[in-house]
Amino acid sequence: MVFIKSLIVAVLAVVAVKANVLQQSSRTPAACAYVLPNIPGGFSQRRFADFSSNTPSDNPATVLGTYNIGISNYGPVPSTPLTHTFVPENVAFGNGYLGLKTSAYASGSVQSGEIVTNDVFMYASVRTVLKSTATPGIVEGNFFYLDVATGAQEIDFEILTTTIFSSNNPLVPPGIWATNYNNTGSRINTVSTIPFTFDPRTDYHEYRIDSFFQWFGTTTNFYIDGVRVAQHAEPSTTPTVPGHWIWNSWSSGDVNWSMGPPTADGIYQIRSIDLYTGYTSTC
Ligand SMILES: *[C@@H]1O[C@H](CO)[C@@H](O)[C@H](O)[C@H]1NC(C)=O
Ligand SMILES: *[C@@H]1O[C@H](CO)[C@@H](O)[C@H](O)[C@H]1NC(C)=O
Repeated sequence: MVFIKSLIVAVLAVVAVKANVLQQSSRTPAACAYVLPNIPGGFSQRRFADFSSNTPSDNPATVLGTYNIGISNYGPVPSTPLTHTFVPENVAFGNGYLGLKTSAYASGSVQSGEIVTNDVFMYASVRTVLKSTATPGIVEGNFFYLDVATGAQEIDFEILTTTIFSSNNPLVPPGIWATNYNNTGSRINTVSTIPFTFDPRTDYHEYRIDSFFQWFGTTTNFYIDGVRVAQHAEPSTTPTVPGHWIWNSWSSGDVNWSMGPPTADGIYQIRSIDLYTGYTSTC
């Protein structure tokens, strides 16, 4: 019985492998399969993760796995004054969204939520439709990241939920942050804070980063609802290597950044992720 069972499992495994190979080859993309408005060239791959019909009973690891996105489980991550820890329990579906939670702070490390692409890439157009939490004291990130030996390279959109419209700290102007970070050596960055023209906590909006490092010179382009709101062209802060894409919600209680920590749970709601990779400059 045990033998038969394992034989069946083995046969099923072979079928699964075959199906997988077939699926991949039938999906083998043409270099210019996706040509997008106002972007020179095209992309061979698209991942469109639409969570608008997901419900709390859906398993986030299973659903995200189909898009080659994983759930983070690590920490405490050094930050001051409080560390933060990414726990899988803080990634869960709500009705029509994927929620990344920062938990109401009790003690110890701030319990936070994060998802990350398993693969790395460089040229990409990443469009996230999201709604911010109404809970103050949280950082909501959507960014390119690679930790190299000398430090991290990043391209970030970040919403700080305490300082959406106003701030009493001149180091933390209100608005959404669009930043290229070079965390090596002198830790330089190129940053814009863009005032919100709407309340990001009441509706879903599309936050998009086009990381075409040689488009319009050396640039990173940030868009909200299809309108370009920032463009960085400083070579010394532009990443040079492929990296992961990360979405996260966290806090460190830093008066010069996230503020908080939150006194209530805050959930960063992602309705969809539309991710184009496999860039070709001529189509
Ligand atoms: C980041 O800055 C360091 C100097 O601090 C520089 O040597 C390096 O080339 C920069 N990285 C990039 C990607 O430009
Ligand atoms: C916040 O920034 C101010 C001004 O640079 C600095 O004096 C202060 O020590 C910082 N506070 C913390 C907790 O890092």
